[in-house]
Amino acid sequence: MTQESNQADNVKVGIDKINFYTPNHYLDLVDLAEARGVDPNKFLVGIGQSRMSVAALDQDIVAMAANAAEPMLSADDRQEIGLLVLATESGIDQSKAAALFVQDLLKLNDDLRAIEIKEACYGATAGIQLACDYVRSHPGRKALVIASDIARYGLDTPGEVTQGAGAVAMLVTGDPSILAIEPESFYESRSTGDFWRPNYSTVAFARGKFSEEVYVGMFEELWDKAQQQGVASPENLQALLFHIPFSKMGRKGLRTLGNGKINEADYVRLTERFEQSIVYGKEVGNIYTGSIYIALVSLLENDKSLKPGDRIGLYSYGSGSVAELYFGTLQPGYRERLDTQSHRALLDNRERLSMSEYEAMFSAQLVADGSQQDLGRSDHSADAPHYLKGMKAHERQYR
Ligand code: HMG
Repeated sequence: MTQESNQADNVKVGIDKINFYTPNHYLDLVDLAEARGVDPNKFLVGIGQSRMSVAALDQDIVAMAANAAEPMLSADDRQEIGLLVLATESGIDQSKAAALFVQDLLKLNDDLRAIEIKEACYGATAGIQLACDYVRSHPGRKALVIASDIARYGLDTPGEVTQGAGAVAMLVTGDPSILAIEPESFYESRSTGDFWRPNYSTVAFARGKFSEEVYVGMFEELWDKAQQQGVASPENLQALLFHIPFSKMGRKGLRTLGNGKINEADYVRLTERFEQSIVYGKEVGNIYTGSIYIALVSLLENDKSLKPGDRIGLYSYGSGSVAELYFGTLQPGYRERLDTQSHRALLDNRERLSMSEYEAMFSAQLVADGSQQDLGRSDHSADAPHYLKGMKAHERQYR
């Protein structure tokens, strides 16, 4: 290892600010269960979700991404960001990066790299790791990583109950205030056909049970690898976060550590913290690549016993499939960086949709023939200053 890379590894880099946005409409999953002729406990207990956010056409991934980042950025941040990554699997263009629209809406500096990353639900973690490398090699610059997605499986499909919509924005800096991320991590890529969305389709396809097997199998492999290298010893881990497409999925990952695989006291502690990490996601649904980062916000804002210096693990999984297990340490003063009241209000102030309103919102489409389309504004609150105004000559028009 060279002296420079040694020095780079010693610089503390990680998440300095974090915020999320989710659209202001939701479907109660008891209503969905009744409409689909399913026992509500299958959704509430078997899947482990209670509500899902539903996005109107004007809250596309660009608008949601800008709304997630807008409230947390200072004027200095906007000048100092040298890398903007938008991670999504709900892309709006085959060529232009959605990050460029977001750069414009957030009035960021021109002196930056703006790119889009796609690898299913793993994309934001690729963005975080790229951002950490960027900040290590560009001291004084910052990187903005935004995960923004709308999970769509289709009406009356097995995946319908695991839909959702939202965005999480994270500012990655040196000497971060929330989570310092360790340079050493464990990852694996393997082509699998567990979940995909062809270019011609507005909904995803999944081999549901197979996707659960791959998710759990890759977690076990990475956990064992980290154990063998002495990096994940459970007594030094205060919490373990999972990608949460629905809360039962993360629970299944965590359960692989039960049955004596790790010490009972460690398992109980990780399980208690897991419960705090799923509070927000149970109400928002799957937001694909942002799901593990909503789990991070949920843990930090709902758990009262974590403290600076505590180490947490993050298991990121993206179908297709890429998985990564990495670690970070909570930083002094991290609690002051959180915005629990606003996040609680964002979730509580959403409007409940009837089944017919949900189905109409789900089925609405943007025009695809170059004609002009003016959209209504679905969220007039201060949480959503950015929205898609409509379409004109094949281009999206934002406000
Ligand atoms: P399903 O076939 O409808 O579900 O699909 P099920 O019949 O297996 O039931 C689900 C659970 O509810 C079962 O528990 C039942 O026992 C239980 P489990 O065995 O799993 O512990 N249950 C009940 N519990 C209480 N009371 C009842 C009751 N009835 C049944 N009355 C499935 C479920 C998740 C497969 C489906 O929703 C699906 O295909 N979802 C989409 C795929 C998915 O989310 N996969 C997750 C892993 S892949 C991933 O995380 C990546 C992803 O986010 C995409 C990306 O990377 O971009 C998806």
